[in-house]
Amino acid sequence: MIYFVTSNRGKFAEAREIFEDLEMRNIGYTEIQADTLEEVADFGIREVARRLEGPVMIEDAGLFIPALKGFPGVYSAYVQKTVGNQGILKLMSEETDRRAFFRSVVAYAEPGLEPVTFEGEVHGRIGFEERGNLGFGYDPIFYLGNRSLGEMEIDEKNCISHRSASMNALKAWLSSRPEP
Ligand code: IMP
Repeated sequence: MIYFVTSNRGKFAEAREIFEDLEMRNIGYTEIQADTLEEVADFGIREVARRLEGPVMIEDAGLFIPALKGFPGVYSAYVQKTVGNQGILKLMSEETDRRAFFRSVVAYAEPGLEPVTFEGEVHGRIGFEERGNLGFGYDPIFYLGNRSLGEMEIDEKNCISHRSASMNALKAWLSSRPEP
């Protein structure tokens, strides 16, 4: 059994499809302001491992838009909370380069183990309108082909998403390491 420390039910629902034995713990942790998701996740997992006994994991993600020099990137949560999807659409309204990608870094620790991290990405583009009410966050403006992630059920999103890539990498690592 693994404790997934997050306040985001959408993330937990996605992770739950990958790890059968997962428990959500909404206990909060320090999300430092850093240049990379790895630094945020590495700092966070060490704090969580000190506070919770047992296997623990956290995940930090962001939306990166090359035409905006990577913005919102590590500021994704703040930007989503403030200007939201409409704010991003507005910033992109005159832009022809619509490319964007999500990046996910999952960090895992257990007693006696130095924390490990795994990453995943999905590349798509920013649409011109919000579509769909599934998923969360930036899903309705992030398109693959002619559909947004907001129009995809969890199992479909999990076939392609940044989070499923990072978490499946962790899962593969967990099942391939030698028994202690
Ligand atoms: P954090 O990993 O919770 O810090 O996420 C940063 C921001 O990106 C939050 O506003 C999330 O809602 C958003 N976000 C993270 N993952 C996804 C995703 O899979 N789809 C859409 N938005 C996401």
